[in-house]
Amino acid sequence: MSDEETNSWPVALIVFLILITGTLVAGDSLDIDKEVLLNLKAFFEGNNQINRGKYSQWNKQSNNPCEWPGINCSTTTTRTARVTSINLSDNKISGKLFGNFSLLTELSFLDLSKNTLSGVIPEDLNRCQNLVHLNLSHNMLDGHLNLTGLNKLENLDISVNRICGKVQLSLPTICDKLVVLNVSANDFMGVINGGFDTCQNLQFLDLSSNKLSGELWNGFERLLEFSVSENNFNGPILPSMFGTNCNLQVLDLSANVFTGQVPGNISNCRSLIILNLSNNNFTGKIPAEMGSISSLRALCLGNNSFSKGIPDSLLSLNKLTFLDLSRNNFGGDIQEIFGKFIQVEFLVLHSNLYTGGIYTSGILKLPNISNLDLSFNKFSGPLPVEIAEMPSLKFLILAYNEFSGTIPSDYGNLPRLQALDLSFNWLNGSIPPTFGKLRSLLWLMLANNSLSGEIPPDLGNCTSLLWLNLANNQLSGKIPPQLTNIGTNASATFESNRQENDRIVAGLRECLAMRRWIPANYPPFSFVYDILTRKRCRSIWDGILQGNSIFPICAAGSSVRTFQIPGYVQLSGNRLSGEVPPDIGKMQKFSMLHLGFNEFYGKLPPQIEEMPLVNLNISNNKFSGEIPGEIGNIKCLQNLDLSCNNFSGMFPESFNNLSELSKFNISYNPLMSGVIPITGQLSTFDKSSYLGDPLLELPNFIYNTSYKLPRSTNHNGKTKRPNSFSAFLVILALTVTFLTFGLFSLIISIPGPKIWV
Ligand SMILES: *[C@@H]1O[C@H](CO)[C@@H](O)[C@H](O)[C@H]1NC(C)=O
Ligand SMILES: *[C@@H]1O[C@H](CO)[C@@H](O)[C@H](O)[C@H]1NC(C)=O
Ligand SMILES: *[C@@H]1O[C@H](CO)[C@@H](O)[C@H](O)[C@H]1NC(C)=O
Ligand SMILES: *[C@@H]1O[C@H](CO)[C@@H](O)[C@H](O)[C@H]1NC(C)=O
Ligand SMILES: *[C@@H]1O[C@H](CO)[C@@H](O)[C@H](O)[C@H]1NC(C)=O
Ligand SMILES: *[C@@H]1O[C@H](CO)[C@@H](O)[C@H](O)[C@H]1NC(C)=O
Ligand SMILES: *[C@@H]1O[C@H](CO)[C@@H](O)[C@H](O)[C@H]1NC(C)=O
Ligand SMILES: *[C@@H]1O[C@H](CO)[C@@H](O)[C@H](O)[C@H]1NC(C)=O
Ligand SMILES: *[C@@H]1O[C@H](CO)[C@@H](O)[C@H](O)[C@H]1NC(C)=O
Ligand SMILES: *[C@@H]1O[C@H](CO)[C@@H](O)[C@H](O)[C@H]1NC(C)=O
Ligand SMILES: *[C@@H]1O[C@H](CO)[C@@H](O)[C@H](O)[C@H]1NC(C)=O
Ligand SMILES: *[C@@H]1O[C@H](CO)[C@@H](O)[C@H](O)[C@H]1NC(C)=O
Repeated sequence: MSDEETNSWPVALIVFLILITGTLVAGDSLDIDKEVLLNLKAFFEGNNQINRGKYSQWNKQSNNPCEWPGINCSTTTTRTARVTSINLSDNKISGKLFGNFSLLTELSFLDLSKNTLSGVIPEDLNRCQNLVHLNLSHNMLDGHLNLTGLNKLENLDISVNRICGKVQLSLPTICDKLVVLNVSANDFMGVINGGFDTCQNLQFLDLSSNKLSGELWNGFERLLEFSVSENNFNGPILPSMFGTNCNLQVLDLSANVFTGQVPGNISNCRSLIILNLSNNNFTGKIPAEMGSISSLRALCLGNNSFSKGIPDSLLSLNKLTFLDLSRNNFGGDIQEIFGKFIQVEFLVLHSNLYTGGIYTSGILKLPNISNLDLSFNKFSGPLPVEIAEMPSLKFLILAYNEFSGTIPSDYGNLPRLQALDLSFNWLNGSIPPTFGKLRSLLWLMLANNSLSGEIPPDLGNCTSLLWLNLANNQLSGKIPPQLTNIGTNASATFESNRQENDRIVAGLRECLAMRRWIPANYPPFSFVYDILTRKRCRSIWDGILQGNSIFPICAAGSSVRTFQIPGYVQLSGNRLSGEVPPDIGKMQKFSMLHLGFNEFYGKLPPQIEEMPLVNLNISNNKFSGEIPGEIGNIKCLQNLDLSCNNFSGMFPESFNNLSELSKFNISYNPLMSGVIPITGQLSTFDKSSYLGDPLLELPNFIYNTSYKLPRSTNHNGKTKRPNSFSAFLVILALTVTFLTFGLFSLIISIPGPKIWV
């Protein structure tokens, strides 16, 4: 209750009413609204003791609720003003949904999205009859949906929650005015049938990522945007679904179990911009009629069984910039028509069993290609030198083929190249020093070939290079000290990606390829892998390509976590030798260093502590001398594998400070001596971490156990911190990255295997 109230009469009356009735009454004045809001504030504060949102400021600077952050009123003249809008999106609200919103009788706008609300939607909300806009998206609400009382609703967004049952439960009662309905990413089930027939004003309907099934609702053509992606809808798509009134701009039927042919009548949808039919079981010809949808910019037909002949009429789609015909098992040569889509920027033809046609199709002459994905085919012979003459190329993905011979040094002439993935081929020869000219390169993936020779020092000129994987080749020689310059300045590349102004095309990144670049088994990357769901893929990759951090990692040499882009260097399974250059400490953007299974020798330089490592593996080499105790200062270290080397001297006590360590192996360093303390992090590991180290003295309980200790507690009962904190921060950061969804924002999926070497 406020003390400096000017207009205290009604307030006193309310107090009086509350006193006698014990309740708040729904009222028709700003003062009552204010009381309700103060109740709301107390409710939020009760559910969230620390780290509160802007509601905490209510009643602090002003006692006019219309001036409170997150609140808007109907007018500015206080006499008649009423609270009409509450926007507390992204305001650290947790607990259940407030059960008294209906006391704000003029409330028309309520946005509580991006909080951590849980529990069911209270019946009270169903009495907020004046609500026009309700956004509860990105919370953890569950239970059934019943908003039958809200018949003025125009916008309803409950996406990304855990709401279940039938989506039509509230329809058609709330349908009259509804323009936007987004129930994406919940647990809705059942069939749709004619469920939306009465929603005459509906324009945006997003049912994606639920468990809906049955046949497709015949009536979506009058919407602007319709997505049922990632459900279990089945049956054929009928010609009658596309009448001459089709108004659609975005149609996403992907990832269902639709069968049969795509009807040519789809060309009645003359305004289509994005058509996504991928991940279904469509068969037969791609309809020639599609060639008349002149507004089409993105056509995704991947993972179906379309027949190989692609109608020439599609060549008249002169706005088409994104074309995905991956995973249709075409076989033979790449169809010649692909070389004629001169405006195409993204050409995605992976997983098609192609054996040839790279030249005859003419795809290498396409002037505007920025993303060419021919991975998972059966191409053989030398890599085409002609690729070096594709001036717009940013992503070149030729992994998982049978290309042989050497890597053309001309590939160094692709100034805009950001990702080069030639892994899992039969390439030999050495890494061309000309790669040093690739100043925009972020990813260099050459793993699992037969490359030999030394790592060229010129590679150190690639100052954007943050993700380097050369594993499982036959590379030899030392790590050139110059290599420690990689990744020191990627800002120009990130900046150019931020400038990319075509949001539609920029949004349509193909996630499959990129997902392979995440080392799923190694922290911190494993977290991202897990949260990289279809919905999030696009925003995560967009974020990464713009240099937004998604991992909280310890700043070099400190325990302070900061958000930064974590790079990796993966050199395992080669014949690299010599000492690790002390300059390695300069690599302050790298969180994973894998040097295992090589022939490195000498001491491990203590400067390694300056790297913000989460994962360090130097196993199966010939390192000797003392293990630098400085490693104990790498506070975020989670995996440490020093096994199978020749380290000697005392076991570094400092390792017990590595409170995040969850995998540790120092086995088979027979000259190591010292005592493993009975308490602390080290005592949480079992014998397998210390095998073949006869001089190491272990606590008895480690000697005596052959089973794995429970990972949750250690021996002094102190809870071991698993990775939940980092996981939490990752989610937090991701929440931030997810902000950038626009009208045409569509979703990128990430099917595909976890492949990492
Ligand atoms: C909502 O109002 C009822 C009376 O109408 C009251 O008993 C209850 O405590 C209020 N709930 C909250 C969370 O303020
Ligand atoms: C509230 O008013 C401010 C300032 O006029 C405006 O920027 C904001 O969009 C309004 N919020 C809502 C939810 O209408
Ligand atoms: C609601 O608040 C969020 C977060 O502060 C803001 O991004 C959004 O634009 C606001 N919405 C309106 C309609 O003002
Ligand atoms: C609901 O809120 C989310 C997150 O704040 C926002 O992205 C979305 O556009 C909003 N939905 C509608 C229909 O405005
Ligand atoms: C939905 O709520 C209304 C009023 O709150 C109630 O009358 C109706 O029975 C509910 N419907 C279902 C299916 O629970
Ligand atoms: C529905 O919500 C999801 C998740 O918030 C979002 O990605 C999608 O773009 C929204 N759909 C529409 C049509 O706005
Ligand atoms: C579909 O298109 C064909 C050929 O244009 C036409 O004969 C047929 O009537 C159309 N079907 C429907 C249901 O509109
Ligand atoms: C291809 O689509 C089917 C559905 O027809 C789906 O089950 C499968 O996972 C998809 N494959 C990939 C690799 O996305
Ligand atoms: C796809 O259709 C083909 C032929 O109609 C059938 O043999 C195959 O089993 C179907 N695949 C799936 C995943 O339904
Ligand atoms: C290629 O891209 C440039 C620049 O965006 C554009 O001006 C040109 O029209 C495009 N060429 C074709 C054939 O679409
Ligand atoms: C890399 O940088 C060094 C030193 O500036 C220079 O001598 C060398 O030519 C560069 N290599 C390439 C391929 O650009
Ligand atoms: C099309 O749908 C598939 C499967 O849901 C998804 O992976 C892909 O990103 C979508 N493409 C576009 C351009 O929306």
